[in-house]
Amino acid sequence: MTASLIHGLSLAAEIREQIRSVIASWPAARQRPGLVVVQVGEDPASAVYVGNKIKACEAVGIRSQHRVFTADCSTQSLLAAIHELNRDPEVHGILVQLPLPASIDPRSILQAIDPRKDVDGFHPLNAGALFAGTPRLVPCTPAGVMRLLANTGVAIRGAEAVVVGASNIVGKPMAMLLLAAGATVTLCNSKTRDLAAHCHRADILIAALGKPQYIHGSMIKPGAVVIDVGIHRAVSGQLLGDVHFESVCEIASWVTPVPGGVGPMTIAMLLANTLKAAEDTLP
Ligand code: GUN
Repeated sequence: MTASLIHGLSLAAEIREQIRSVIASWPAARQRPGLVVVQVGEDPASAVYVGNKIKACEAVGIRSQHRVFTADCSTQSLLAAIHELNRDPEVHGILVQLPLPASIDPRSILQAIDPRKDVDGFHPLNAGALFAGTPRLVPCTPAGVMRLLANTGVAIRGAEAVVVGASNIVGKPMAMLLLAAGATVTLCNSKTRDLAAHCHRADILIAALGKPQYIHGSMIKPGAVVIDVGIHRAVSGQLLGDVHFESVCEIASWVTPVPGGVGPMTIAMLLANTLKAAEDTLP
């Protein structure tokens, strides 16, 4: 079998266009949605991701601001900035780019964000709402993966879904969304014994383990849908996923490319969450 590609780039473009046209249809006097992206330190990868988020906002009519703090800033100063953004009626979404420097406690930062402005969906209240089956603001990458899966037309209800990687950002919320959609979900982590045996059972496999090209075609069930959440830059400069693309293509029915798969969907879902947060608070 040669897998079909799941085109995240074109689906994300469609979603961005829908968001643009919704905002464009608002009365001129209505405030536009506003997002603030907070970056701490000068990590080059984070700077690229943040830059892409800001650019995507501009293109759909979301006002955005990029606030950069030095890597040696204190947790207190960051908390003070977040409290100020929480109070600002022109700010509907707040995103703190992760990872944070080791000197800053990420939990206290994420908990300080007003849950109504938590466009990443990382606040315990939003994580709990997802767990309880009443999702509000859902983490962007897993939300984007669900849209990609829906686009294939493959049934999730009753399917065996295996999520490899149990992070708070991707793996755990991904498992909750698949469960809510009726899949039987296995959530693998770094201690999982015989990962290949779990992967072999998967009708839907989500690779979010953070190891370049780790998931090989020999680990895949014939006809599986494979979603690659990983992104790594090889020394050659080439972008690689967590999936060994060539070998998986020979076995899977659908696979996401890297780049052009999950990445653009994460940004599209950030825009969707920002619009939702604005719609929920604006008159
Ligand atoms: N770092 C990697 N992915 C993400 C994400 O989805 N949100 C934030 N805030 N930081 C990240």
